[in-house]
Amino acid sequence: MKIALGVTGCIAAYKAAELLRLLQQRHLEVQVVMTRHAGEFVAPLTFAALSGRKVITEMFERTGEASSNIESAIEHIAVAQSIDLLLVAPATANTIGKFARGMADDFLSTLYLATRAPVVVAPAMNCEMWDHPAVQENIASLRARGVRIVEPDEGYLACGMIGQGRLAANETILNAVAEALRLKNGLAGVQVLVTAGPTVEDIDPVRFISNRSSGKMGYALAEEAVRRGAEVTLISGPTTLQPPQGARWVSVRSAAEMSAAVHKHLPEAGVVVKAAAVADVRPSKRASSKIKKSQLPASLDLELTEDILASLGKKKGKTLLVGFAAESGIHLQAARQKLLSKNLDLLVVNDISEKGAGFDVDTNHVQVIRADGAIRDIPPMSKAQVAEKIFDEIVEMIQKTSSRHEPALMTK
Ligand SMILES: Cc1cc2nc3c(=O)[nH]c(=O)nc-3n(C[C@H](O)[C@H](O)[C@H](O)COP(=O)(O)O)c2cc1C
Repeated sequence: MKIALGVTGCIAAYKAAELLRLLQQRHLEVQVVMTRHAGEFVAPLTFAALSGRKVITEMFERTGEASSNIESAIEHIAVAQSIDLLLVAPATANTIGKFARGMADDFLSTLYLATRAPVVVAPAMNCEMWDHPAVQENIASLRARGVRIVEPDEGYLACGMIGQGRLAANETILNAVAEALRLKNGLAGVQVLVTAGPTVEDIDPVRFISNRSSGKMGYALAEEAVRRGAEVTLISGPTTLQPPQGARWVSVRSAAEMSAAVHKHLPEAGVVVKAAAVADVRPSKRASSKIKKSQLPASLDLELTEDILASLGKKKGKTLLVGFAAESGIHLQAARQKLLSKNLDLLVVNDISEKGAGFDVDTNHVQVIRADGAIRDIPPMSKAQVAEKIFDEIVEMIQKTSSRHEPALMTK
Protein backbone atom coordinates (compact mmCIF):
# COMPACT_ATOMS: atom_id res chain seq x y z
CA MET A 1 0.00 0.00 0.00
CA LYS A 2 1.16 3.46 -0.81
CA ILE A 3 0.71 6.64 1.16
CA ALA A 4 1.77 10.23 0.57
CA LEU A 5 3.35 11.92 3.58
CA GLY A 6 2.92 15.69 3.41
CA VAL A 7 5.41 17.70 5.47
CA THR A 8 4.83 21.40 6.04
CA GLY A 9 6.85 24.32 7.38
CA CYS A 10 7.11 24.11 11.13
CA ILE A 11 9.58 23.14 13.83
CA ALA A 12 8.04 19.67 14.15
CA ALA A 13 8.96 18.91 10.50
CA TYR A 14 11.97 16.93 11.75
CA LYS A 15 9.58 14.53 13.51
CA ALA A 16 8.26 13.47 10.11
CA ALA A 17 11.57 11.69 9.46
CA GLU A 18 10.93 9.26 12.33
CA LEU A 19 7.31 8.92 11.27
CA LEU A 20 8.44 8.00 7.75
CA ARG A 21 10.66 5.26 9.15
CA LEU A 22 7.84 3.86 11.28
CA LEU A 23 5.44 3.85 8.33
CA GLN A 24 7.99 1.95 6.26
CA GLN A 25 8.46 -0.56 9.05
CA ARG A 26 4.76 -1.25 8.69
CA HIS A 27 5.31 -2.15 5.03
CA LEU A 28 3.83 1.03 3.63
CA GLU A 29 5.36 2.59 0.54
CA VAL A 30 5.79 6.29 1.30
CA GLN A 31 5.98 9.18 -1.16
CA VAL A 32 7.08 12.32 0.68
CA VAL A 33 5.66 15.65 -0.47
CA MET A 34 7.15 18.78 1.13
CA THR A 35 5.94 22.33 1.00
CA ARG A 36 8.55 24.90 0.07
CA HIS A 37 8.52 26.18 3.66
CA ALA A 38 9.09 22.70 5.05
CA GLY A 39 12.41 22.80 3.23
CA GLU A 40 13.42 25.68 5.49
CA PHE A 41 13.32 23.30 8.45
CA VAL A 42 14.49 19.94 7.06
CA ALA A 43 16.35 19.32 3.81
CA PRO A 44 14.42 17.21 1.26
CA LEU A 45 17.55 15.06 1.03
CA THR A 46 16.81 13.63 4.49
CA PHE A 47 13.45 12.30 3.30
CA ALA A 48 14.81 11.23 -0.08
CA ALA A 49 17.53 9.18 1.63
CA LEU A 50 15.09 7.62 4.11
CA SER A 51 12.33 6.87 1.60
CA GLY A 52 14.65 5.86 -1.21
CA ARG A 53 12.66 7.92 -3.68
CA LYS A 54 12.49 11.44 -5.02
CA VAL A 55 10.79 13.90 -2.68
CA ILE A 56 8.19 16.06 -4.38
CA THR A 57 8.73 19.70 -3.47
CA GLU A 58 7.52 21.64 -6.49
CA MET A 59 4.43 21.83 -8.63
CA PHE A 60 6.48 22.89 -11.62
CA GLU A 61 9.78 21.23 -12.52
CA ARG A 62 12.69 23.68 -12.28
CA THR A 63 14.73 22.18 -15.09
CA GLY A 64 15.15 25.43 -16.95
CA GLU A 65 13.07 24.16 -19.84
CA ALA A 66 9.35 23.79 -20.17
CA SER A 67 8.65 20.11 -19.54
CA SER A 68 7.33 18.23 -22.53
CA ASN A 69 7.04 15.10 -20.41
CA ILE A 70 3.34 14.69 -19.80
CA GLU A 71 3.95 12.13 -17.01
CA SER A 72 5.88 14.58 -14.88
CA ALA A 73 3.58 17.45 -15.86
CA ILE A 74 0.56 15.76 -14.34
CA GLU A 75 2.42 14.18 -11.42
CA HIS A 76 -0.08 15.49 -8.88
CA ILE A 77 -2.86 13.55 -10.61
CA ALA A 78 -0.74 10.41 -10.87
CA VAL A 79 0.20 10.59 -7.18
CA ALA A 80 -3.39 11.45 -6.23
CA GLN A 81 -4.69 8.34 -8.00
CA SER A 82 -2.00 5.96 -6.82
CA ILE A 83 -2.13 6.56 -3.08
CA ASP A 84 -4.25 4.74 -0.53
CA LEU A 85 -3.97 7.59 1.96
CA LEU A 86 -2.69 11.14 2.32
CA LEU A 87 -1.11 11.90 5.70
CA VAL A 88 -0.02 15.44 6.49
CA ALA A 89 2.20 15.46 9.58
CA PRO A 90 3.00 18.01 10.79
CA ALA A 91 0.35 20.27 9.26
CA THR A 92 0.71 24.04 9.63
CA ALA A 93 -2.18 26.44 10.18
CA ASN A 94 -1.46 27.73 6.67
CA THR A 95 -1.79 24.35 4.95
CA ILE A 96 -4.88 23.47 6.99
CA GLY A 97 -6.39 26.80 5.87
CA LYS A 98 -5.62 26.06 2.24
CA PHE A 99 -7.16 22.57 2.47
CA ALA A 100 -10.27 24.00 4.14
CA ARG A 101 -10.74 26.69 1.49
CA GLY A 102 -9.84 24.60 -1.53
CA MET A 103 -6.78 26.63 -2.46
CA ALA A 104 -4.25 24.80 -4.60
CA ASP A 105 -1.11 26.89 -4.98
CA ASP A 106 1.47 24.16 -4.39
CA PHE A 107 1.87 20.43 -4.91
CA LEU A 108 0.54 19.36 -1.49
CA SER A 109 -2.62 21.48 -1.55
CA THR A 110 -3.29 20.45 -5.17
CA LEU A 111 -2.79 16.81 -4.22
CA TYR A 112 -5.31 17.21 -1.40
CA LEU A 113 -7.95 18.38 -3.89
CA ALA A 114 -7.06 15.79 -6.50
CA THR A 115 -7.08 12.67 -4.37
CA ARG A 116 -10.07 10.62 -3.33
CA ALA A 117 -7.98 8.64 -0.83
CA PRO A 118 -8.68 9.15 2.88
CA VAL A 119 -6.83 12.09 4.44
CA VAL A 120 -5.26 12.24 7.91
CA VAL A 121 -4.02 15.60 9.19
CA ALA A 122 -1.86 16.00 12.30
CA PRO A 123 -1.61 19.73 13.11
CA ALA A 124 1.30 21.30 14.99
CA MET A 125 1.47 24.94 15.96
CA ASN A 126 1.66 27.47 18.75
CA CYS A 127 -1.29 27.11 21.17
CA GLU A 128 -2.64 30.60 20.42
CA MET A 129 -2.67 29.71 16.72
CA TRP A 130 -4.42 26.41 17.43
CA ASP A 131 -7.08 28.13 19.55
CA HIS A 132 -7.70 30.86 16.98
CA PRO A 133 -11.30 30.75 15.67
CA ALA A 134 -10.03 30.84 12.07
CA VAL A 135 -7.98 27.66 12.63
CA GLN A 136 -10.76 26.00 14.61
CA GLU A 137 -13.27 26.78 11.85
CA ASN A 138 -10.95 25.30 9.26
CA ILE A 139 -10.43 22.20 11.37
CA ALA A 140 -14.20 21.84 11.81
CA SER A 141 -14.82 22.12 8.09
CA LEU A 142 -12.14 19.51 7.31
CA ARG A 143 -13.65 17.20 9.90
CA ALA A 144 -17.10 17.69 8.41
CA ARG A 145 -15.62 16.63 5.08
CA GLY A 146 -14.33 13.37 6.54
CA VAL A 147 -10.72 14.37 7.09
CA ARG A 148 -9.33 12.59 10.14
CA ILE A 149 -7.73 15.15 12.49
CA VAL A 150 -5.13 13.86 14.92
CA GLU A 151 -5.48 16.47 17.67
CA PRO A 152 -2.23 18.05 18.82
CA ASP A 153 -1.03 17.23 22.34
CA GLU A 154 -0.75 19.63 25.24
CA GLY A 155 2.66 20.45 26.64
CA TYR A 156 5.73 22.63 26.27
CA LEU A 157 5.83 24.17 22.82
CA ALA A 158 8.89 25.17 20.84
CA CYS A 159 7.93 28.83 21.36
CA GLY A 160 8.30 28.39 25.13
CA MET A 161 4.57 28.43 25.88
CA ILE A 162 2.56 25.66 27.46
CA GLY A 163 -0.68 24.60 25.80
CA GLN A 164 -2.23 22.48 23.05
CA GLY A 165 -0.26 22.51 19.82
CA ARG A 166 2.48 19.88 19.97
CA LEU A 167 2.40 17.35 17.15
CA ALA A 168 0.62 14.23 18.45
CA ALA A 169 2.77 11.24 19.39
CA ASN A 170 3.86 9.00 16.49
CA GLU A 171 1.88 6.14 17.98
CA THR A 172 -1.34 8.17 17.87
CA ILE A 173 -0.71 9.25 14.28
CA LEU A 174 0.08 5.66 13.22
CA ASN A 175 -3.12 4.41 14.82
CA ALA A 176 -5.13 7.01 12.91
CA VAL A 177 -3.44 5.93 9.67
CA ALA A 178 -4.11 2.26 10.42
CA GLU A 179 -7.73 2.93 11.21
CA ALA A 180 -8.26 4.99 8.04
CA LEU A 181 -6.60 2.33 5.88
CA ARG A 182 -8.57 -0.45 7.54
CA LEU A 183 -11.83 1.35 6.83
CA LYS A 184 -10.82 1.97 3.24
CA ASN A 185 -9.50 -1.45 2.38
CA GLY A 186 -11.21 -3.49 5.00
CA LEU A 187 -8.20 -5.60 5.86
CA ALA A 188 -5.19 -3.31 6.17
CA GLY A 189 -2.82 -4.82 8.67
CA VAL A 190 -5.08 -7.83 9.35
CA GLN A 191 -3.26 -11.16 9.18
CA VAL A 192 -5.13 -13.51 6.87
CA LEU A 193 -4.27 -17.18 6.55
CA VAL A 194 -5.55 -18.93 3.41
CA THR A 195 -5.17 -22.61 2.57
CA ALA A 196 -5.49 -23.79 -1.01
CA GLY A 197 -5.11 -26.72 -3.37
CA PRO A 198 -5.25 -30.43 -2.77
CA THR A 199 -3.12 -32.46 -0.43
CA VAL A 200 -1.21 -35.47 -1.67
CA GLU A 201 -1.00 -38.65 0.41
CA ASP A 202 1.79 -40.91 -0.71
CA ILE A 203 1.44 -44.66 -1.08
CA ASP A 204 5.08 -44.98 -2.11
CA PRO A 205 7.55 -42.56 -3.72
CA VAL A 206 5.66 -42.62 -7.05
CA ARG A 207 2.02 -43.36 -6.22
CA PHE A 208 -0.38 -41.25 -4.23
CA ILE A 209 -3.99 -40.44 -3.31
CA SER A 210 -5.19 -36.92 -4.02
CA ASN A 211 -8.15 -34.99 -5.45
CA ARG A 212 -8.94 -32.70 -8.37
CA SER A 213 -8.63 -29.37 -6.56
CA SER A 214 -6.74 -26.89 -8.78
CA GLY A 215 -6.15 -24.36 -5.97
CA LYS A 216 -7.65 -21.59 -8.13
CA MET A 217 -10.30 -20.54 -5.58
CA GLY A 218 -7.81 -20.39 -2.71
CA TYR A 219 -5.25 -18.45 -4.76
CA ALA A 220 -7.96 -15.99 -5.86
CA LEU A 221 -8.88 -15.52 -2.19
CA ALA A 222 -5.26 -14.89 -1.21
CA GLU A 223 -4.90 -12.35 -4.04
CA GLU A 224 -8.06 -10.56 -2.97
CA ALA A 225 -6.88 -10.39 0.65
CA VAL A 226 -3.54 -8.90 -0.50
CA ARG A 227 -5.44 -6.37 -2.63
CA ARG A 228 -7.38 -5.29 0.46
CA GLY A 229 -4.23 -4.65 2.40
CA ALA A 230 -4.09 -7.82 4.53
CA GLU A 231 -0.86 -9.53 5.45
CA VAL A 232 -1.48 -12.86 3.78
CA THR A 233 0.00 -16.29 4.37
CA LEU A 234 -1.02 -18.81 1.72
CA ILE A 235 -0.49 -22.43 2.68
CA SER A 236 -0.77 -24.44 -0.48
CA GLY A 237 -0.79 -28.06 -1.48
CA PRO A 238 0.77 -28.95 -4.87
CA THR A 239 -0.70 -26.86 -7.70
CA THR A 240 0.53 -25.48 -11.01
CA LEU A 241 -0.30 -21.90 -9.97
CA GLN A 242 2.13 -19.02 -9.41
CA PRO A 243 2.31 -17.86 -5.79
CA PRO A 244 0.46 -14.52 -5.57
CA GLN A 245 2.67 -11.46 -5.28
CA GLY A 246 2.66 -9.90 -1.87
CA ALA A 247 1.62 -13.07 -0.01
CA ARG A 248 3.85 -15.27 2.12
CA TRP A 249 3.70 -18.66 0.40
CA VAL A 250 4.11 -21.88 2.32
CA SER A 251 4.24 -25.02 0.23
CA VAL A 252 3.06 -28.31 1.75
CA ARG A 253 2.26 -31.77 0.39
CA SER A 254 0.29 -33.93 2.79
CA ALA A 255 -2.64 -33.28 5.11
CA ALA A 256 -0.27 -33.72 8.06
CA GLU A 257 2.10 -31.05 6.67
CA MET A 258 -0.82 -28.73 6.00
CA SER A 259 -2.13 -29.23 9.52
CA ALA A 260 1.28 -28.46 11.04
CA ALA A 261 1.67 -25.30 8.94
CA VAL A 262 -1.84 -24.06 9.70
CA HIS A 263 -1.44 -24.57 13.44
CA LYS A 264 1.96 -22.88 13.34
CA HIS A 265 0.50 -19.72 11.74
CA LEU A 266 -2.82 -19.73 13.60
CA PRO A 267 -1.75 -17.64 16.63
CA GLU A 268 -1.09 -14.50 14.58
CA ALA A 269 -4.08 -14.88 12.22
CA GLY A 270 -7.12 -12.61 12.50
CA VAL A 271 -8.89 -14.49 9.70
CA VAL A 272 -8.41 -18.08 8.49
CA VAL A 273 -9.92 -19.12 5.17
CA LYS A 274 -9.68 -22.89 4.65
CA ALA A 275 -10.19 -23.32 0.93
CA ALA A 276 -7.86 -26.31 0.56
CA ALA A 277 -9.31 -29.68 -0.41
CA VAL A 278 -7.56 -31.73 2.25
CA ALA A 279 -7.56 -35.48 1.60
CA ASP A 280 -9.88 -37.22 4.06
CA VAL A 281 -7.84 -40.42 4.08
CA ARG A 282 -4.28 -41.54 3.63
CA PRO A 283 -2.63 -44.95 3.28
CA SER A 284 -2.00 -46.41 6.72
CA LYS A 285 1.55 -47.17 5.62
CA ARG A 286 3.81 -45.33 3.21
CA ALA A 287 6.38 -47.55 1.51
CA SER A 288 9.83 -45.97 1.43
CA SER A 289 10.64 -47.49 -1.97
CA LYS A 290 8.46 -48.15 -4.99
CA ILE A 291 6.22 -51.16 -4.45
CA LYS A 292 6.77 -53.70 -7.22
CA LYS A 293 3.72 -54.30 -9.40
CA SER A 294 3.68 -57.96 -8.42
CA GLN A 295 3.61 -56.95 -4.73
CA LEU A 296 0.85 -54.36 -4.98
CA PRO A 297 -1.93 -55.21 -2.53
CA ALA A 298 -5.43 -55.90 -3.88
CA SER A 299 -6.77 -53.27 -1.51
CA LEU A 300 -5.26 -50.35 0.37
CA ASP A 301 -5.45 -49.91 4.10
CA LEU A 302 -6.54 -46.35 4.74
CA GLU A 303 -6.75 -44.17 7.83
CA LEU A 304 -8.48 -40.84 8.37
CA THR A 305 -6.41 -37.68 8.20
CA GLU A 306 -6.84 -34.99 10.82
CA ASP A 307 -9.96 -32.83 10.38
CA ILE A 308 -8.02 -29.55 10.31
CA LEU A 309 -11.13 -27.39 10.15
CA ALA A 310 -12.65 -29.03 13.21
CA SER A 311 -9.42 -28.72 15.19
CA LEU A 312 -9.16 -25.05 14.23
CA GLY A 313 -12.74 -24.54 15.34
CA LYS A 314 -11.83 -25.87 18.79
CA LYS A 315 -8.90 -23.52 19.31
CA LYS A 316 -9.69 -20.55 17.08
CA GLY A 317 -10.25 -18.13 19.95
CA LYS A 318 -11.17 -14.79 18.43
CA THR A 319 -9.97 -15.67 14.94
CA LEU A 320 -12.65 -15.47 12.27
CA LEU A 321 -12.85 -18.93 10.73
CA VAL A 322 -14.13 -19.52 7.20
CA GLY A 323 -14.59 -23.03 5.85
CA PHE A 324 -15.37 -24.42 2.41
CA ALA A 325 -17.57 -27.36 1.56
CA ALA A 326 -17.50 -28.89 -1.90
CA GLU A 327 -20.64 -30.99 -2.21
CA SER A 328 -22.48 -32.78 -4.96
CA GLY A 329 -25.73 -30.87 -4.58
CA ILE A 330 -26.18 -28.16 -2.01
CA HIS A 331 -27.98 -29.27 1.12
CA LEU A 332 -28.22 -26.13 3.15
CA GLN A 333 -29.45 -27.85 6.27
CA ALA A 334 -26.45 -30.21 6.28
CA ALA A 335 -24.12 -27.31 5.52
CA ARG A 336 -25.43 -25.32 8.44
CA GLN A 337 -24.97 -28.36 10.66
CA LYS A 338 -21.33 -28.55 9.51
CA LEU A 339 -20.82 -24.86 10.27
CA LEU A 340 -22.17 -25.26 13.80
CA SER A 341 -20.42 -28.52 14.61
CA LYS A 342 -17.05 -27.16 13.47
CA ASN A 343 -17.52 -23.79 15.17
CA LEU A 344 -17.10 -21.79 11.95
CA ASP A 345 -18.07 -18.16 11.45
CA LEU A 346 -18.73 -18.57 7.74
CA LEU A 347 -19.13 -21.56 5.44
CA VAL A 348 -18.82 -21.31 1.67
CA VAL A 349 -20.63 -24.15 -0.05
CA ASN A 350 -20.20 -25.03 -3.69
CA ASP A 351 -22.01 -27.61 -5.73
CA ILE A 352 -19.32 -29.43 -7.65
CA SER A 353 -21.90 -31.33 -9.68
CA GLU A 354 -22.96 -28.04 -11.28
CA LYS A 355 -21.42 -27.09 -14.65
CA GLY A 356 -19.09 -24.10 -14.28
CA ALA A 357 -18.56 -24.55 -10.54
CA GLY A 358 -16.11 -26.39 -8.31
CA PHE A 359 -12.78 -27.95 -9.31
CA ASP A 360 -10.73 -27.35 -12.47
CA VAL A 361 -12.84 -24.45 -13.78
CA ASP A 362 -12.28 -20.70 -13.60
CA THR A 363 -15.80 -19.89 -12.44
CA ASN A 364 -17.75 -20.78 -9.36
CA HIS A 365 -21.26 -20.59 -7.92
CA VAL A 366 -21.39 -20.59 -4.13
CA GLN A 367 -23.69 -20.05 -1.20
CA VAL A 368 -22.28 -18.30 1.84
CA ILE A 369 -23.73 -19.25 5.20
CA ARG A 370 -23.06 -17.26 8.34
CA ALA A 371 -23.11 -18.61 11.88
CA ASP A 372 -26.22 -16.50 12.56
CA GLY A 373 -28.06 -18.42 9.83
CA ALA A 374 -27.93 -15.72 7.13
CA ILE A 375 -27.45 -17.22 3.66
CA ARG A 376 -26.24 -15.41 0.57
CA ASP A 377 -26.26 -16.83 -2.92
CA ILE A 378 -23.33 -15.68 -5.04
CA PRO A 379 -24.36 -16.36 -8.64
CA PRO A 380 -21.93 -17.95 -11.11
CA MET A 381 -18.97 -15.68 -11.78
CA SER A 382 -15.18 -15.85 -12.03
CA LYS A 383 -13.30 -17.18 -9.01
CA ALA A 384 -11.67 -13.74 -8.61
CA GLN A 385 -15.11 -12.14 -8.37
CA VAL A 386 -16.34 -14.82 -5.99
CA ALA A 387 -13.27 -14.11 -3.82
CA GLU A 388 -14.23 -10.43 -3.80
CA LYS A 389 -17.78 -11.23 -2.65
CA ILE A 390 -16.54 -13.62 0.04
CA PHE A 391 -14.20 -10.94 1.40
CA ASP A 392 -17.05 -8.40 1.32
CA GLU A 393 -18.80 -10.76 3.77
CA ILE A 394 -15.66 -11.24 5.86
CA VAL A 395 -14.98 -7.49 6.10
CA GLU A 396 -18.59 -6.81 7.04
CA MET A 397 -18.32 -9.38 9.82
CA ILE A 398 -15.00 -7.93 11.02
CA GLN A 399 -16.41 -4.44 11.13
CA LYS A 400 -19.40 -5.64 13.14
CA THR A 401 -17.25 -7.33 15.72
CA SER A 402 -15.00 -5.83 18.34
CA SER A 403 -11.34 -5.00 18.47
CA ARG A 404 -10.35 -8.63 17.93
CA HIS A 405 -9.23 -7.90 14.39
CA GLU A 406 -7.24 -4.80 15.24
CA PRO A 407 -4.71 -4.48 12.48
CA ALA A 408 -1.13 -5.33 13.25
CA LEU A 409 -0.39 -1.86 11.97
CA MET A 410 -1.81 -0.53 15.22
CA THR A 411 0.87 0.05 17.78
CA LYS A 412 0.25 -1.86 20.95
C1 LIG B 1 10.70 29.14 13.27
C2 LIG B 1 9.31 29.00 12.73
C3 LIG B 1 8.47 28.04 13.25
C4 LIG B 1 7.17 27.90 12.79
N1 LIG B 1 6.37 26.94 13.34
C5 LIG B 1 5.10 26.81 12.90
C6 LIG B 1 4.26 25.83 13.47
O1 LIG B 1 4.63 25.07 14.36
N2 LIG B 1 3.00 25.72 13.00
C7 LIG B 1 2.51 26.54 12.02
O2 LIG B 1 1.34 26.39 11.64
N3 LIG B 1 3.31 27.47 11.46
C8 LIG B 1 4.58 27.64 11.87
N4 LIG B 1 5.38 28.58 11.31
C9 LIG B 1 4.84 29.42 10.25
C10 LIG B 1 4.83 28.69 8.91
O3 LIG B 1 6.16 28.32 8.56
C11 LIG B 1 4.23 29.59 7.85
O4 LIG B 1 2.86 29.82 8.13
C12 LIG B 1 4.37 29.03 6.46
O5 LIG B 1 3.75 29.91 5.54
C13 LIG B 1 3.78 27.66 6.34
O6 LIG B 1 3.89 27.25 5.01
P1 LIG B 1 3.40 25.79 4.54
O7 LIG B 1 2.09 25.55 5.17
O8 LIG B 1 3.29 25.91 3.05
O9 LIG B 1 4.46 24.84 4.93
C14 LIG B 1 6.69 28.75 11.76
C15 LIG B 1 7.55 29.70 11.23
C16 LIG B 1 8.83 29.82 11.69
C17 LIG B 1 9.74 30.87 11.10
